[in-house]
Amino acid sequence: MAPIEVKKICCIGAGYVGGPTCAVIPHIQVTIVDLNQQRIDAWNSDELPIYEPGLDEVVKKARGKNLFFSTDVDKGIEEADLIFVSVNTPTKKSGIGAGFAADLKFLQLATRRIAEVAKSSKIVVEKSTVPCRTADAMRTILEANSKPGCHFDILSNPEFLAEGTAIEDLFAPDRVLIGSLQTQQGLDACAALAGVYANWVPRERILTVGLWSSELSKLAANAMLAQRISSVNALSAICEATGANIDEVAYAVGKDTRMGSKFLKASVGFGGSCFQKDILNLVYLSESLHLPEVAKYWRAVVEMNEYQKSRFANKVVDTLFNTITGKKIAILGWAFKKDTGDTRESPAITLANHFLTEKARINIYDPQVSKDQIWLDLTDYGDIPAEPIKPHVTISQSVEEACHNAEAIVICTEWDEFKTLDWQKIYDNCPRPAFVFDGRLILDRKALTDIGFKVTSIGTGDRL
Ligand SMILES: NC(=O)c1ccc[n+]([C@@H]2O[C@H](COP(=O)([O-])OP(=O)(O)OC[C@H]3O[C@@H](n4cnc5c(N)ncnc54)[C@H](O)[C@@H]3O)[C@@H](O)[C@H]2O)c1
Repeated sequence: MAPIEVKKICCIGAGYVGGPTCAVIPHIQVTIVDLNQQRIDAWNSDELPIYEPGLDEVVKKARGKNLFFSTDVDKGIEEADLIFVSVNTPTKKSGIGAGFAADLKFLQLATRRIAEVAKSSKIVVEKSTVPCRTADAMRTILEANSKPGCHFDILSNPEFLAEGTAIEDLFAPDRVLIGSLQTQQGLDACAALAGVYANWVPRERILTVGLWSSELSKLAANAMLAQRISSVNALSAICEATGANIDEVAYAVGKDTRMGSKFLKASVGFGGSCFQKDILNLVYLSESLHLPEVAKYWRAVVEMNEYQKSRFANKVVDTLFNTITGKKIAILGWAFKKDTGDTRESPAITLANHFLTEKARINIYDPQVSKDQIWLDLTDYGDIPAEPIKPHVTISQSVEEACHNAEAIVICTEWDEFKTLDWQKIYDNCPRPAFVFDGRLILDRKALTDIGFKVTSIGTGDRL
């Protein structure tokens, strides 16, 4: 049988994954649809809704040619042979599995819509991160609601891009993973999607596996990456207590080729929309499978991350002579990591809340996060009233403004621009003693100490 040729693609969900992932597909017509009018308008404008190095150029080159953004979800579905489902799958906030399980309502709504609208057979691709065996539920929904003659093949194709390097990752991925049922139809659908990627990804990097392995591999990869960060952060606490230096320890450990050097940078903790949510998802899956020890093991990775954030916040308070009431603290960086404007689960939010509870005044600066977004984060999207904290919060337009008169400067995000600041000038505008807390290990501790700052870095003890 001739391989299935994909002529038109639709992607449901124009977010951090749907937008960049589809923008790099060459030749084939791709329409990215979303219910959020504001987001689609932004994708169609000069101010894209997300910041990602290189994204502007890629989108501007393809938009209007083979790349389209629309709120007409039904038309997108109807016209496509292959549909990526790239909607959000956040952690459930209430009900069974609250705080752990993935909330699949957006995925199920999108699946239902596909079944209701499709007039011809489609390949439906799970791109969202989902618990293992979600494709089963999707198949049941699709089969129960489809029109006669419409057949759906479901593939799992998890996205491994990292925010901040998404375009690089997408153009030259370590691997593309496609999971399918091992039936002839499943394998044909898998070959069709592999054919799409083969337009720019070498064949040996396109891995094809069973559906359930593919779904689980995404959770497994994130859990193991986060586990390395929690391990190195646990060691950073030992370094601080012993006089060892975490950067030196990480360097020595990372030189072991069995280990490798990546994901060994100690920090104030990991953030982002995926690590915590995906590990909790794995914890819930383990519990559902009656594997409490496995659940406990993965839960500890998240607990270590919470510990690292509160340990760092407490260190700021301790160092400022056990009180920060009324003191001005500059928070440099609000995004969960550099080169993204994404703030989901950012450690900066936890630190800011901690400082506000201690009645400090905080000045926040981030080069890519808007004032509105910072307020949404501080008020937990409206759940916490803004009025009581307003007098204690200033959102600054520059580092200098944020640090002016600050008793403590706290680095929360590793933006490159923080490495090359005029620290002498900043010091001249700070009261004495002037404290710097390097939550990302990016500053030259000696240079700052020579200027006169009292520097505290993650994983570096004072004991010689
Ligand atoms: N952000 C990352 O770095 C990353 C990396 C790999 C995988 N993932 C996974 O990819 C998925 C998407 O993540 P994201 O960061 O792009 O989320 P996001 O919240 O940025 O985007 C999801 C989009 O889907 C839209 N949407 C929801 N339901 C819809 C529906 N029924 N019809 C049309 N549009 C709908 C929303 O309006 C939103 O714009 C998640 O499962 C996530 O875990 C994320």
